[in-house]
Amino acid sequence: MIKFKTLGQADVGGKRVLVRADLNVPVKDGRVTDDTRIVRLAPTITDLLMRGAKVIVLSHFDRPKGKRVPEMSLRPIVPALAKAIGHEVFFADDCIGEAAEKVVEALKPGQVALLENLRFHDGEEANDPKFVRALAELGDVYVNDAFSAAHRAHASTEGLAHMLPAYAGRQMQAELEALTAALEHPKKPVMAIVGGSKISSKLDVLNNLAAKVDVLVIGGGMANTFLNAQGINVGKSLCERDLADTARGILANAKRNKCEIFLPTDVVMAAGLKEGIDTAVCDVKKVPDDMMILDVGPATTLALKTKLNSCKTLLWNGPLGAFEIKPFNAATFDVAHHAAALTKAGTLVSVAGGGDTVAALNGAGVTDALSYVSTAGGAFLEWMEGKDLPGVKALG
Ligand code: 3PG
Repeated sequence: MIKFKTLGQADVGGKRVLVRADLNVPVKDGRVTDDTRIVRLAPTITDLLMRGAKVIVLSHFDRPKGKRVPEMSLRPIVPALAKAIGHEVFFADDCIGEAAEKVVEALKPGQVALLENLRFHDGEEANDPKFVRALAELGDVYVNDAFSAAHRAHASTEGLAHMLPAYAGRQMQAELEALTAALEHPKKPVMAIVGGSKISSKLDVLNNLAAKVDVLVIGGGMANTFLNAQGINVGKSLCERDLADTARGILANAKRNKCEIFLPTDVVMAAGLKEGIDTAVCDVKKVPDDMMILDVGPATTLALKTKLNSCKTLLWNGPLGAFEIKPFNAATFDVAHHAAALTKAGTLVSVAGGGDTVAALNGAGVTDALSYVSTAGGAFLEWMEGKDLPGVKALG
């Protein structure tokens, strides 16, 4: 694991501390609908406040592409952040220049400010040295607590680490320690569950895992692409038919590496994705043309849980079914409860990550019962792909 300095080693009393957070959280009608990332950030901010730092929180929100997009302002996040840390949060309308300087200059030790969306400036994503300098002028110390943005070599995730004394925040530290324990030196056998809708976004993950883990479970819509590639009719299910060759390549890669591929043998199907719609369980080889596969079936779920009993490590990214709509959450929730029970019994190290995965585990009520649940999406995937993350590397 990369060596990095931790928050405890930083001298922060009276200093302006730039905390790179990831406040790219789900928001609906101006309200935060899932505050997991904000709650996880709180220990770093609280620690800094107690030590008399002036905390300046930096974050991106969505992808405004260098323009000021009012719907992508960080202002609506202020109440949720204030609630999570139990402190007033000042807000600056810009992350550099006069507006930011005014708010930062007025900060007293033990106070917090959030600056406007970094990505309103194209220097952020370009990692432009001028923009990095403008940010660095606002602080004396840099703390990165945004593992979930560490796969981006941006000004605030990478550039700043070279300009100011740089430390990993509490969340970043916990994340790196947990992922290292699960991916670099895992107890075997290792099962990976990869779900979600499309394999196109997870090709490198699937190939890397096929070469590393003992059992690779493929669920969600992406399982349909593999079933179709094996000549199985998936009806009107979501399916990337143009990736049949790619899917067969992944299966061959798994075979070469003696990785067992686990695909559904039975499925839950319906005429469409709607709550309350009639559903039926059927053998995966008997899906009618006018039906959609929306979850893995009970026989598959039972076989998966039985297989998990003999595994020592579980890596999980992506739900097994269309879990947002009942009853297509059944398999995901059932496996989540089982993984939580095995973790509690001490026989399984369970690490999960990804936006959908966190939402599913929250829904199942087991987020705190797994060994570690990462709120990172793309960064978690790139870590699973075996790539170096620039934001982590820069802390070394
Ligand atoms: C995420 O939500 O995964 C991170 O905030 C990164 O966002 P991005 O994919 O827009 O860089």
